[in-house]
Amino acid sequence: MEIIKRDVLKEKPKEGEALGFGRYFTDYMFTMKYTKGKGWHDAKIEPNVPQPFDLATSVLHYAQGIFEGMKAFIQPDGSIAVFRPYENWARMNRSADRMCIPRFPEEVAEEGLEALLKLEKDWIPTAPGTALYIRPTIVATKVALGVHASTEYLFFIILSPVGSYYAHGLEPVKLIVEDFYSRSSLGGTGEAKCLGNYAASIKAGEIAEEKGFDQALWLDSAEKKYVEEVGSMNMFFVIGGEVVTPALTGSILPGITRKSCLQILREKGYAVAERRISIDEVAEAAKSGALSEAFGTGTAAVISPVGLIRYKDVDYTVNGGKMGEITRMLYDTITGIQYGKLPDPHGWRKAVN
Ligand code: COI
Repeated sequence: MEIIKRDVLKEKPKEGEALGFGRYFTDYMFTMKYTKGKGWHDAKIEPNVPQPFDLATSVLHYAQGIFEGMKAFIQPDGSIAVFRPYENWARMNRSADRMCIPRFPEEVAEEGLEALLKLEKDWIPTAPGTALYIRPTIVATKVALGVHASTEYLFFIILSPVGSYYAHGLEPVKLIVEDFYSRSSLGGTGEAKCLGNYAASIKAGEIAEEKGFDQALWLDSAEKKYVEEVGSMNMFFVIGGEVVTPALTGSILPGITRKSCLQILREKGYAVAERRISIDEVAEAAKSGALSEAFGTGTAAVISPVGLIRYKDVDYTVNGGKMGEITRMLYDTITGIQYGKLPDPHGWRKAVN
């Protein structure tokens, strides 16, 4: 892998400094280019510096672009491990298909990521709850205004040392059900990790924040009845002892932390259901006391307890606003595997050697 070195390195965040999410970026990035007729080419590691670009670059106009989120962790023996990267590469290529972006060679992306991580090892934070967030992205780079699939693309991986996604850390989050705006619809792009899904979510997110909530909880667009996801997290509810998560209907992101939690829960013998779950069922369960826990899962959010859900001006408190037992077990198991403190029976840790 070609590495273009930089002369001056950036200043790293100070030891013990609150990192927040996505505020700092490392010295280098991995890039490769696509040109129609030539395929993916020019894979290399180069300095992560501001890029000159033409204002007619197609991604700036029509959002033909996709991304992923992964994390790298320092292990007790000082080595680096990435959590389930092959799942992310596979999902990224599924997103590519949906967005008419040419599939990329997953082994080249993985090789580039590993070379980049080795070079940037000193940027991986070690304080509890921190990690090096990995953001692979593909954007359409053809300079043209016609609404067509681009014939040129840039694939890049940038890295960011992060703490917790929510400003208040592991404190349970407050969600407000969004029953007007939609994030996605059937036949739309909801299950692809594409740029536009996140743009579509911003309005409801801002409204939620203005009202003092952390995020909006999305419902299905057709009936405004069934719970979908939160945008940065998949949702889980514990109702009458059963762990329920919305089934993947095509408009929900197929989360890798979601999939990992389902596997852990099933292996530990919990009753688990992937099905449609209406917001009325959640509200009824909260009223009757059957709703004992709610939590979200995601790479950035890890496992985040949900302490309150507002729906049609009524506030439903979950588990007295505290983290529940199953939520805690999943948090401890997932982070235990990620940080190398627990055995890894499924081979989810990819060692970077
Ligand atoms: C992630 O969890 O990695 C995400 O991409 C969600 C969000 C930060 C956009």
